[in-house]
Amino acid sequence: MKMTRMLTALTLGLAVTACDRGAGTPMTASSTPQARVSDPELLALGKQVFMDNCARCHGRRAEGAPDWRTPNAQGHYPPPPLDGSGHAWHHPKTMLRQVIREGSPPGPQARMPAWKDRLSEREIQAVIAWFQSLWPEQVYQAWQQMDRRAGQKNQ
Ligand code: HEC
Repeated sequence: MKMTRMLTALTLGLAVTACDRGAGTPMTASSTPQARVSDPELLALGKQVFMDNCARCHGRRAEGAPDWRTPNAQGHYPPPPLDGSGHAWHHPKTMLRQVIREGSPPGPQARMPAWKDRLSEREIQAVIAWFQSLWPEQVYQAWQQMDRRAGQKNQ
């Protein structure tokens, strides 16, 4: 009798854990992952654009400033990493494009320059494809799912 109750509790416990795991981790959801941009020409252009314009702040490997989480005395944040270790992947593509085109929103932290007058749409597309090619697979997939959800909301 006691044994049965214990077993039931155990089984229930297992079921709950299994459920949690299924729902909680976006990376294991059953979606068909889209391949990243692999067009060598576009990636080469993106790298060029990055080295010419972005590397001096974001680092040559897009690793960001070492202390990017700590604002300076003026409340400015140093340039964050774009290599997948920062929080750029929390932003849908439209927002990444927006940050690059318009710079950071006005305010005390506005130190990311606007690029819309200096880079073409294709160059912006290329530079995003290039820094996304640096992202670990799990980060990229999590980003894709978030981007898709953001896209659905905007429709
Ligand atoms: C003068 C330094 C500087 C240059 C040059 C620069 N950035 Fe930035 N960038 C920043 C700073 C500082 C931030 C953080 C903005 C903020 O906190 O408002 C930032 C933020 C970003 C973000 C948002 C990241 C996030 O995690 O939210 C993206 C994307 C980005 N930059 C891309 C680029 C690209 C692409 C280029 C080159 C075309 C570039 N940046 C050139 C300083 C720079």
